[in-house]
Amino acid sequence: MKVLLIGSTGVMGTALQSENRGRFQITPKDHNDLEIKDVNQVRRVLDEEKPDYVINTSAYLGVEPCAANPGEAFAVNTEAVRNLSKLCDKRNICLVQFSTDSVFDGRKGDLYTEDDQPNPLNLYGMTKYMGDLFVRNLCRNYYIIRIPILFGPRQNAGSIFIDKMYRHVLSGADELRIADDVISCPSFSNDIAQGVYSLMDSGKECGLYHIKNEGVASLYDFAKVFFEKMKLPVRILRAKAADFSVNETEMKPLNTAICSVKTDHMRPWQDAMEDYIKILKSQPQEAL
Ligand SMILES: NC(=O)c1ccc[n+]([C@@H]2O[C@H](COP(=O)([O-])OP(=O)(O)OC[C@H]3O[C@@H](n4cnc5c(N)ncnc54)[C@H](OP(=O)(O)O)[C@@H]3O)[C@@H](O)[C@H]2O)c1
Repeated sequence: MKVLLIGSTGVMGTALQSENRGRFQITPKDHNDLEIKDVNQVRRVLDEEKPDYVINTSAYLGVEPCAANPGEAFAVNTEAVRNLSKLCDKRNICLVQFSTDSVFDGRKGDLYTEDDQPNPLNLYGMTKYMGDLFVRNLCRNYYIIRIPILFGPRQNAGSIFIDKMYRHVLSGADELRIADDVISCPSFSNDIAQGVYSLMDSGKECGLYHIKNEGVASLYDFAKVFFEKMKLPVRILRAKAADFSVNETEMKPLNTAICSVKTDHMRPWQDAMEDYIKILKSQPQEAL
């Protein structure tokens, strides 16, 4: 089966390639190869490659960047996904689209399942959720994969929460203040990639699936476990999300931990982190 992978250099793009292990014939497209906002370019690539699946990991990520550049957030996360949905549907291609736990408002007080109604609080969550709706409504053959906060290797220079913390420490920080009231489910991109491929192999019906490692943690817990396992002498101090609010108009949901009523349990995130740390330790530090 042929897969066109959009966003091949990011965290999920990297994992989907390393975990493929010959299952699918993947054509990776990075941002230089393909601009997802350019509908004519996307159409041309689909017609050249004729994939059975398109996996779209590209996104305009993050609460602050999306607030600072709402037009770009809408163009990449919503409008491009709407166009991709229509193009895939017309060609009978299965679209595998990544979503985020940031579509939830964090007020449930319990784990969010696939049945819970999103209610995004910020532009990032809103533009991603609108993208999900277009996939669901415009493409008959689709999987929406909703995932929580990631850790994992990447080929590009972007950075996710734990990479940023690690960089601070590598550049000399001996203490970090981290919110203990922001709760998610840290998950290893390689495990998620395996979950995605199992889903695609399973022939399960189209729809929305939550995929994550087992367990729930605050950002504080997440960082503490990471640095303990890395055996780095850094003090992790408790803080609150409100201590870091930089944008007055954007709200961040506090507890967006998810679970699934449709997919199998995966190993705990702390066990998965052991594997990530092995990969990190085998890389030169400047690779981060
Ligand atoms: N990272 C997380 O913790 C997290 C949590 C929940 C959900 N998600 C979701 O999971 C998906 C994958 O996230 P990720 O962390 O793998 O993202 P990422 O590391 O930022 O990778 C995104 C990829 O898409 C490419 N890209 C960005 N804009 C593009 C555009 N306009 N046209 C074509 N390609 C473009 C990037 O290339 P360049 O870097 O060269 O621009 C990169 O290869 C996203 O849908 C995201 O919303 C991520």
